[in-house]
Amino acid sequence: MELSRAGLEMARLSGLRGIMEDIALATGAAPGRAWRNLGVGNPAAIPEVCGWWQRLATEALTGSFADTSCRYGPSRGLPRLVDAIVGYFNRRYGWTIGPRNVVVGPGSQMLCFMAAAMFTGPGAARDTELVLPMTPDYTGYQGLSMTAGGVRGVEPILRTEGERTFGYRIDLTAVSEQANAGMFLISTPSNPAGRRATPEELDGLLDIAEARDVPLMLDLAYGHPFPGIAEAPTAPIWHERVINSFSLSKTGLPGERLGFVIADERYVTPLVSFLANSALHAPQLAQATLARALEGDAIDAVVASVITPFYAERRKYMEELLVQALPCEVSWRLHRSEGGMFVWLWVDEDWFDDLELCRLLKERGVFVVPGRHFFTEPERGARLGRHPRQCVRISMTPDPADLTAGVERIAAALADMRDRAAGTTGNDN
Ligand SMILES: Cc1ncc(COP(=O)(O)O)c(C=O)c1O
Repeated sequence: MELSRAGLEMARLSGLRGIMEDIALATGAAPGRAWRNLGVGNPAAIPEVCGWWQRLATEALTGSFADTSCRYGPSRGLPRLVDAIVGYFNRRYGWTIGPRNVVVGPGSQMLCFMAAAMFTGPGAARDTELVLPMTPDYTGYQGLSMTAGGVRGVEPILRTEGERTFGYRIDLTAVSEQANAGMFLISTPSNPAGRRATPEELDGLLDIAEARDVPLMLDLAYGHPFPGIAEAPTAPIWHERVINSFSLSKTGLPGERLGFVIADERYVTPLVSFLANSALHAPQLAQATLARALEGDAIDAVVASVITPFYAERRKYMEELLVQALPCEVSWRLHRSEGGMFVWLWVDEDWFDDLELCRLLKERGVFVVPGRHFFTEPERGARLGRHPRQCVRISMTPDPADLTAGVERIAAALADMRDRAAGTTGNDN
């Protein structure tokens, strides 16, 4: 079998898929074991949210089945949904967008992939790259290019804050030096660090995108208006250079594969054609369900009264748990959190290695995600040194009993690693 160059790239097991397969293999081989999966990217199973979507899906099934599931539809999206999106954003943010500014797709991963394929790679005038202005960022971005080496991450500026906190900042100078950028892509709030790009950083990125005449794609999978898993209710930006990507996954529908883009029509029109050429369109029963959630702004009440407070509470719980449980003589820090579903832990010790911690935890029935997968070049960080191999991502979505048991095991594994490095047995405390 001969694979094309693009085929070779797409057949590669990305860090993300590797983790998923590893977890599936381990849990499948020992199904009776009480695994604690703190590596998951699934949203929390919140009964009120699940019940609300189920009610809307039932209405869509009863009211729209023949018109949605039993026939093809337009690639831009179900007209009722496209109108609902336009109405919702114009009402909520005072925008004046129309259907020409919207394309609905089967999940935001696919929408990011489509945009990367459209705006980066070998071109008529030059070959361009997908540039991630600040890594660590979502590991799924690393599979977005069909060209080898087509995704480039820019190292952040790292600052410690107080005793147990640290933060990244976008290095705008380094971003501006990315001469081959065909598109910039960043998640905000971010997966994994829960970091929100500041207004000044977004202005800086827009200036750079403007100077390079390329789009800036903002992945708002955790942001506002939904799922609203962010400390501050930051409004999305309407700008002719910005491709806003929205996902319904973290609002509770990851299995339905539904997301949409809002952008200037010069970006949206080719994306609609890409969808027509590849998938035809996103599943329409799910689209009819979402239309019902946006009409009358019903989704706002669920976000404000259930989803946002749920994750704020969960984050507080997790941070307190980690402070209580992790060994105080180990130099560990959490990234300052401004949203998202994860805690990003940095163990600033020479003896620490993310893969080794994950191996020890797997033996103890716990999964977390090694930090290096969120960097494009974890071995070659000029400024960050070993930092990309000293972090792990811990999910906040499992239930509190699993979180507690998982964090206890993380603490014990850290103490073992430290004792081993110090040449002791670990039985002296
Ligand atoms: C930042 C970010 N973007 C996109 C995705 C994928 O979202 P979707 O399910 O809409 O494809 C995820 C999933 O975890 C994510 O964390």
